[in-house]
Amino acid sequence: MTRLGFLGAMNRDLVAQQDCATVLDALRINASPLVETPISDEDAQRGAELLQELGAADYLGGSAFNAARVAALLNDGNEIDLAFFGVAGTLGPSRAHLEALDGWGFDTSGVETSAIPPATCLAIVEQAGRTLLTAHGANAAIANWLERQHSALAIAIARCDAIHITSYLDPASPALIARILERARIDNPELIVSLDPGMAWIAPGGDGFARLLAQTNILHLNSEEFTRLLGKASPAEIGAGLQPGWLLVARMHEGVTLYSEKSASPYAPELQDMDVRDATGAGDTFCGAFLWSYCQDVTRLQRAVALGFALARHKVGMAGPLALTDTTRREIVTKIVKAEW
Ligand SMILES: Nc1ncnc2c1ncn2[C@@H]1O[C@H](COP(=O)(O)OP(=O)(O)OP(=O)(O)O)[C@@H](O)[C@H]1O
Ligand SMILES: [Mg+2]
Repeated sequence: MTRLGFLGAMNRDLVAQQDCATVLDALRINASPLVETPISDEDAQRGAELLQELGAADYLGGSAFNAARVAALLNDGNEIDLAFFGVAGTLGPSRAHLEALDGWGFDTSGVETSAIPPATCLAIVEQAGRTLLTAHGANAAIANWLERQHSALAIAIARCDAIHITSYLDPASPALIARILERARIDNPELIVSLDPGMAWIAPGGDGFARLLAQTNILHLNSEEFTRLLGKASPAEIGAGLQPGWLLVARMHEGVTLYSEKSASPYAPELQDMDVRDATGAGDTFCGAFLWSYCQDVTRLQRAVALGFALARHKVGMAGPLALTDTTRREIVTKIVKAEW
């Protein structure tokens, strides 16, 4: 059976429907709209209090956790084996992320627990998209964990067919994860590395990030990240820094373009009007669904894109993380899986 792993952050998301400029002003935080900006734990605490007064909802989040959750929602027939790697914080008496992952059937032997609360992510949601302010929380110890568990993580990741990596704020993390992947690839040269770096890794760039890109087979970017990473380069120039046979998956609100060495394939479905309620985690939803489909048939890339896009769009229409009734899941999955891509 195909084994899909996820390595990345588990956060506590406080999501408020607010005007981003007003909230940033009130908090006296200097951050750009629509992207993710690191903030201190103290600022996160002040921000959490403000957002809670403004009626923010409280969800379990983090990019890798969100994507993992979507793969699990789809994996009703246990089509693929799921594993998670990361540090789970403690909130009150519970380790809610770890408990949720266990409940969804993940192998969590690669999850370390911490007595510190999970990282707080303040998500300010508007029609145009979400602005994220993220603090370290339990992820402060991430570099230490990646170094200490280097060998164990490399061995466990090598047992996966595909591993999805998402960002941590620690600037040391890209190089440390790259080193683990280099080692895992020695044991498993066929390993597929899927990377959703987010602005948190793209904006600072650097050697560690380049080393991580060099291990990447599938690179996921939203439209702001695509523009920022490409700058004056072309997708082919970015691809030259990835693994041979690379794919670049560029998400937009209206569709997706899949770039490879040989082609650029647009996916531009006919769209019905919709109300955007909460775009937080939409990209993660795309990645989780894309990978669940991809792991079952690596040759049907358009199918993976179509499923990712359909579920991301479905998620944007609802507040909070993706929720799927059995009927909706069956409707969406059946329609896409049956179509000839
Ligand atoms: N405002 C929007 N209108 C319509 N569809 C949207 C909108 N925002 C997101 N989507 C859908 O979600 C998908 C992913 O969105 P996007 O790439 O912007 O996410 P993201 O910013 O990376 O999210 P996150 O990092 O919070 O998971 C899009 O391809 C689209 O299907
Ligand atoms: Mg994203």
